[in-house]
Amino acid sequence: MDFQFTEEQLAVQAAARDFAQSELWAGVIERDEHQKFPAEQIKKMGELGFMGMMVSPEYGGGGMDTVSYVLAMEEISKVDASCSVIMSVNNSLVCWGLEKYGTEEQKQKYLPRLTSGEIIGAFCLSEPEAGSDATMQRTTAEDMGDHYLLNGTKNWITNGSTASVYLVIAQTNPELKHRGINALIVEKDTPGFVVGLKENKLGIRGSDTHSLMFTDVKVPKENRIGDDGFGFKFAMHVLAGGRIGIAAQALGIASGAFELALKYSKERKAFGVEISKHQAIQFKLADMATDIDAARLLCLQAAQDKDNHADYTKSGAMAKLFASKVAMDATAEAVQVHGGYGFVKEFHVERFYRDAKITQIYEGTSEIQKIVISRELLK
Ligand code: CAA
Repeated sequence: MDFQFTEEQLAVQAAARDFAQSELWAGVIERDEHQKFPAEQIKKMGELGFMGMMVSPEYGGGGMDTVSYVLAMEEISKVDASCSVIMSVNNSLVCWGLEKYGTEEQKQKYLPRLTSGEIIGAFCLSEPEAGSDATMQRTTAEDMGDHYLLNGTKNWITNGSTASVYLVIAQTNPELKHRGINALIVEKDTPGFVVGLKENKLGIRGSDTHSLMFTDVKVPKENRIGDDGFGFKFAMHVLAGGRIGIAAQALGIASGAFELALKYSKERKAFGVEISKHQAIQFKLADMATDIDAARLLCLQAAQDKDNHADYTKSGAMAKLFASKVAMDATAEAVQVHGGYGFVKEFHVERFYRDAKITQIYEGTSEIQKIVISRELLK
């Protein structure tokens, strides 16, 4: 492993840090409190190239590597994990999936607008009865010759109401089980497509999460991604890379909370000295910093695997499994270091603590990551 960052990677990291500190801090508490979608911020992130970082310049993307993406995700997540989940879904699931498996027409039609931040995308796999057990798709895409007829409900969809383009996973041929599933591109204004209620969430409250309903939605055949029956494999491939982004998000949540705890420990006095002079606090800081560095190494390992065209299924799942646990532990300790102040909103760490939990749930729970890792080990 070589983690000497290139000048370009360091420049991306610095740009993401500057943007997050100057543009995201100011309203982050209000957006969280009122579940306000960061529309302006996402637009600026598009202008700065953060919404389609790895997409080739031919389609309006930044042509960057996955290591740069991880560095940027960490910096954005250190301030606002709602912005980073929107960024992650758009980059890793939607843009990457379209560029890797889409037709030339699909790429030309959607990628330039998705990468510029003009529109955002959503990835629609989860259903009321298909979360971890993703093969159990009840949404159907009936083959009608020149189009599919889409019927069903999707749940917990990130960017549910704000997206313009939806990659929807649906069952076409139940007899073939997961080999009968397709991935379809559905545009928001398609008749029969209705966005359901917004979820009132524990964390990442600035991002919008909705159920989606499809009733006799006509999706042209040219909107299918890949061959007939490729939909489940498409979802698995896309999620394997998506997990690197969520691992980096968890890393950012942990390091954001840690940096606040470190700073606070040097300011707050108890028993006549700064609390950083007490070994009880020093031990917490040492544990947090060690865990965070280990999580960062796993994220970079997975990113480097992807950039080197090596298999990143295991390293990505390991990075997500470990970084999300670190996010839980580090944010809890950051609240503890802050004492009573940690429990109130102005000090930010309670938000990091709430945001951390989702990283153990979406794009596969921690238990799913262990299944993925052990399968790779036992292959
Ligand atoms: N890459 C490529 N193909 C894969 C794969 C991978 N990582 N994992 C499985 N597959 C393929 C298998 O090869 C198999 O294909 P064939 O039969 O043709 O060989 C097929 O997929 C089915 O595999 P399994 O029999 O192993 O499937 P399974 O049902 O036992 O379990 C699972 C697979 C890994 C548990 C999978 O269901 C899974 O990942 N579940 C979690 C889903 C998930 O992450 N959901 C999150 C929703 S998206 C989200 O959260 C986005 C957001 O808003 C932020």
